[in-house]
Amino acid sequence: MPGENKKLERCSAWQVLCSKLIVIYSYLEVKVAIFIIVVWLILTKRSWKTAYQYDPHFEIRDKILSRNLTDCSFKVVSKNYGMCKDVFLSTHLCKGSRTGGEKLDTVMGQSEEMEYFQFDKGFMNLGCSKKNKPAIPNIDKEHVLSRLKESIAVVPMEMTREVLSETSAIFETVVMVERREYVNLFYTMCELFNTFIAFEMFHLNENTTSVFLIDAHPEGALDALWYDIFKHVYRFGHQKNKTNTIFIETLIVSNMGWFSPIRIQPVNILYLDKFQQNILSSYGLDECASVPNCEKLRIRFLARHDRIYHPRSKGIGRRTSNEQELIEVLEDVFPYDDIKALNFDSIPFSKQLYEIRHTDILISMHGAALTHVLFMPPYSALLEIRIPGFSHDAFEALAAEARVYHKATYINASSDDIELPVIQIVQVLKTIIDKICSRVTWK
Ligand SMILES: *[C@@H]1O[C@H](CO)[C@@H](O)[C@H](O)[C@H]1NC(C)=O
Ligand SMILES: *[C@@H]1O[C@H](CO)[C@@H](O)[C@H](O)[C@H]1NC(C)=O
Ligand SMILES: *[C@@H]1O[C@H](CO)[C@@H](O)[C@H](O)[C@H]1NC(C)=O
Ligand SMILES: *[C@@H]1O[C@H](CO)[C@@H](O)[C@H](O)[C@H]1NC(C)=O
Repeated sequence: MPGENKKLERCSAWQVLCSKLIVIYSYLEVKVAIFIIVVWLILTKRSWKTAYQYDPHFEIRDKILSRNLTDCSFKVVSKNYGMCKDVFLSTHLCKGSRTGGEKLDTVMGQSEEMEYFQFDKGFMNLGCSKKNKPAIPNIDKEHVLSRLKESIAVVPMEMTREVLSETSAIFETVVMVERREYVNLFYTMCELFNTFIAFEMFHLNENTTSVFLIDAHPEGALDALWYDIFKHVYRFGHQKNKTNTIFIETLIVSNMGWFSPIRIQPVNILYLDKFQQNILSSYGLDECASVPNCEKLRIRFLARHDRIYHPRSKGIGRRTSNEQELIEVLEDVFPYDDIKALNFDSIPFSKQLYEIRHTDILISMHGAALTHVLFMPPYSALLEIRIPGFSHDAFEALAAEARVYHKATYINASSDDIELPVIQIVQVLKTIIDKICSRVTWK
């Protein structure tokens, strides 16, 4: 029937429209579904990724779970290194108003206390199967180890096991370092060396060991050294926000810079050679340095200029003003030598090291920058200008360790802007050149 036909036709037109709509709708639905799946994948992928980035040794969980956890372990090794096995950290009990790594100009004037964390009781947790307390030796009150010791809580072994199976932050080995004078090259070198000693002493594998900087200092010019020398370095302040608990198979608390062999007893320092080599090779400078060529000595004056290094800095003391005059006089007196002034204020450590490695005689005011003497070529020389009140002989001792000839000259200056005694420097320089070019062995 035509009416029916018409109805059918209309209906089928309607149906066509319907089915088209359905196709479009299902097409959209597929798209929406794909979109949702992609978003989900990205999100989950990202969270896996952060888990892995944060925790490079995640896969060790099964290995640790398959053995018995170490019972109540905390010991002090070699007087100044603390060591724990199978410990977990409750990160919220590490308190502080800063996380560290801030841009310097955003934290100018902040107090020093703000740059250190407080470790409340329960921050470090030792699993103990019995209710006995771990034997914790006495430690110097000043030592960060002493503050960490106060934070130790003894928890049932089951709890440690539970944390291990739940947390996504598992580290095989961690060396904790609380830096003090983080913008001072001398103390930074002390702290780097202490950490290096921990690696040697405990035979740590650089690939599976992380260094935690457990201070909240803002960004500093020497921070890069940590990342350049050690493979995995984390600011604890940044990590602690990401997780409530961190499980660590072997935790070592490094010695403080103040107690470093470099500062305390710098004679025949164990591991120092290897440390120097390690730093030089970190910066691609481990080829043999040439001994001084006395036909054309590379004489460098290292300047001290004013600069703000940290939030409480009032600028630098012992600044020198007339280095241009000194350079001109030296060029007159030693016309065959290669003479220039170095300014390390805003150049990266790698470039500084390169300059130092290509210096035969370094002249400088007493100051932390002289720690560079550790990296001078053997049989080169250091002329240290000392003023009253700044005459400790750390750099002399380090020079001896590095087989660098050291000579100090004294000037009577008390102001912060020091005029270099050009004639005096020339005279001392002549004796130094005689010494290193006569090829007699000194000391
Ligand atoms: C774990 O400790 C229990 C009880 O002390 C002991 O029987 C077992 O052999 C240990 N397992 C391993 C893998 O060491
Ligand atoms: C660390 O990893 C690198 C590259 O994977 C490897 O060549 C090196 O031997 C490893 N070092 C140690 C001590 O396992
Ligand atoms: C860490 O958390 C604290 C407190 O929740 C917050 O103030 C701070 O900005 C966070 N820091 C980072 C680096 O996420
Ligand atoms: C250094 O200078 C001060 C003030 O000019 C003077 O009193 C002092 O005797 C001088 N010391 C030496 C060792 O020349």
